[in-house]
Order: sequence, then structure tokens, then C-alpha cells
Amino acid sequence: MIRINDNYTKLKTSYLFSDIAKRVSAYVAANPAKPVIRLGIGDVTEPLPQVCIDALHAATDEMAQRATFKGYGPEQGYAFLREAVVQHEFAPRGCHVAPDEVFVSDGSKCDCGNLQEIFADDIRLAIPDPVYPVYVDTNVMAGRTGANIDGRYAGVTYLDSTPANGYVPAIPSTPADLIYLCFPNNPTGAVATKAQLAAWVAYAKANRAIILFDAAYEAYIRDPAIPHSIYEIEGARDVAIEFRSYSKIAGFTGTRCAYTIVPKALKAWDAAGHEHSVHDLWNRRHTTKFNGVAYPIQRAAVAIYSDEGKAQTRALTDFYLGNAARIRAAVTSLGFSCIGGDNAPYIWVKVGRDSWEFFDLLLNNAQVVCTPGAGFGRCGEGHVRISAFNSRDNVEQALARIAAVLQ
Ligand code: MLT
Repeated sequence: MIRINDNYTKLKTSYLFSDIAKRVSAYVAANPAKPVIRLGIGDVTEPLPQVCIDALHAATDEMAQRATFKGYGPEQGYAFLREAVVQHEFAPRGCHVAPDEVFVSDGSKCDCGNLQEIFADDIRLAIPDPVYPVYVDTNVMAGRTGANIDGRYAGVTYLDSTPANGYVPAIPSTPADLIYLCFPNNPTGAVATKAQLAAWVAYAKANRAIILFDAAYEAYIRDPAIPHSIYEIEGARDVAIEFRSYSKIAGFTGTRCAYTIVPKALKAWDAAGHEHSVHDLWNRRHTTKFNGVAYPIQRAAVAIYSDEGKAQTRALTDFYLGNAARIRAAVTSLGFSCIGGDNAPYIWVKVGRDSWEFFDLLLNNAQVVCTPGAGFGRCGEGHVRISAFNSRDNVEQALARIAAVLQ
């Protein structure tokens, strides 16, 4: 008899954004005359930058000629992209990253979901709350947690992000082996200072732990004092892996390209206490289970590093931040407190009531989709996340509808 991985029975029946999509589809089916505006999932709406379009066309033409056709590429990504990442993303910030520490992939969701599998089943986890659900759910699937009791899995150290700590969690008093951090944060939009990240690096060193640092939204940072990479912190190469994505900087949510930095300095230990290179383990896993991102997509990604590409992606992120500023101003004028939206494309609104009830209120009365905070964890209750990813017209319409319902 074929048996399932019993850990799956501990999960909620569906993934947060699938659950929301189902509710929205049911509403749309029942109310076809009422157009819905989606400010829920952080999916981009604006077309790819022109430099990416041009690169896709040119690379497609290369694939049409025997002399320039490409079959399997290197699993870790083409050298042209890995080198450009180092040269344009890390070197200017004084971060030492080598091209062969860059692993190109089809998304940060996959990378931050898959990376845990190179670590032991009984490691201790520290995971923020609220949190991008992938970090928790993939560890549940791997059997690293107990049952879910009142919205929390036994065996996880939750790092509470609340109004009291400015939504930046404190270092736990107990040791952890694998720590998930995300800044600018999804879902709260909070950012971490250099001093806050330095404290996490020191904690990881003291515990011989590893930080998985999700920097998928770093292109939205506008405050020059806020670090874009954890490698801006001294010593982070010894304890941190960083995830980056082209989804939110260049509109690649449907195009799929991301990369993960796994420094060669990073060590982990086996049951007998022998030291291993995490870089080598991840390389082994990546080459076994992944065959690389399509050549035209990697060409489109590297195109953002030209002067024109930099200007176009800056215009794109500025555009979404313009939406975010409007959302912040509108919810504040309705009397809600909120954070995010200044260095992040998400606005985290304290609604002071059941977050699914608020979600239903906006869907049913304003035909606007937000994300209920409770979907991101217990500390998300009483909040909703509003995404700035939509056209200006839709954002303005959504805000007018919300104001009409809530005023
Ligand atoms: C979100 O809405 O949280 C993001 O779109 C999730 C993701 O990037 O996978």
C-alpha cells in the first residue's frame, strides 16, 4: 500500500494564496458584474522593461540558428549572469561574493523552500511571525515540526513581529540552528538596520547556526542607511545564505529568474561532528534536481544591468512605490496605523479586528482583495497586507472604493 508523507497532514489544507484565489474566484463567479481589484498576492502588473524584451527577442533569434543554439546550460547559471550579479549587485556595496557562489534558479520561492533539505531533520528552527508561509510549510513537510496547535507548530521558535518591536523581531533567548529572516519584510514591509542585522549575525556565529536571508524586495529600499544585503555586515559570509529575485525588481513573476548566494565559507556539521561545505552540498542538490534557467530568460535578466536597464528597473520600482505612498496616505487618513510602503511594496495595516472578517468586508463591499494578516501567522491577526503591485488606475479606484466603504 502506497503511503503518504504523514507530515503533509499537519499542513493547512491549502496554501494561503491558493485559498485567497479560491475565495476571490467564488466571489467573481457569483458577482460577474462587479469587477474586483487585486491588491492581495504580490504579483506585478506592469510589462517587462524594454531592455528585457529586446534581450528576449535577440536570445530567441540565437535559439533559431544552429551556430548559436543552446541546449542544457550550466545548472548554476551562465557565467555572464553570475558575473554581472557580483559586479552590479554586490561589489558596489563592498560585499565580497564570488561568481561561483551565485546559483541562478527559477525563483526565490523554490530556493527558500528547497534549501532546508540539505540540513538535518532535528535542527532547531527560528521563524518570524508573521511570515511568508513557504518558510514554515516546507519545514512542516520535511517533518521538522510537531502538530499545529492554535496556529503554531510545536518545535518552532517563533520570532514575534509586533507593533511593540516595530515589527522587527528580537533575538531569541534560546539557541536555534536555522534562522529565517526577510528584509524588506514580506508581509510587513519593515526594514532592518545594520545594527539589527549585525546582532543576528553575532547570534548565528555564537550558535554555529545559519541565517536564510530573503532579500527579494531589496530593490525597494530608498533609505540609504538600510542595508540591501546581509553581506554588508561583517562576518555574514560565515553564517548567511541570501535569496534574490528578478520578480519584483524587473517584473519576472511570470518569467521566472532568481539567484541565491551560498558563500564557500559557510560550514555545517554531520552527526559525527565532521565539517562540511554548505556550498558543496547545495551545488550537489542543485545539479541533481535542477537543470538551469532557460537561456533567453537569463539574457533578459542580465539586461537589467546596462545603464538603460538600471534606469528602467528604477522607474518600475519607483512606480510601485508611488502606488505604495498613495495606499499609505489613504489608509492613514482613514485612521489606521500602518508600516511599510516606503522601502517595500507592501503596506501592513493594523485594522484592529479579525483579519479574515476585514478581508471579507473589503471583498464584498469594495471588491478589493487584500491579504488577511492571520494567513501569515498568529501575530498577523488584527492586520491586513495591501500590495502596491497594480496599475495606478486600479490602485486609485481601489482606494476610493475602500474609503467609500470605511468612512
Ligand atoms: C506574496 O504575495 O507574498 C508574494 O507574491 C509571494 C511570492 O513572491 O511568492
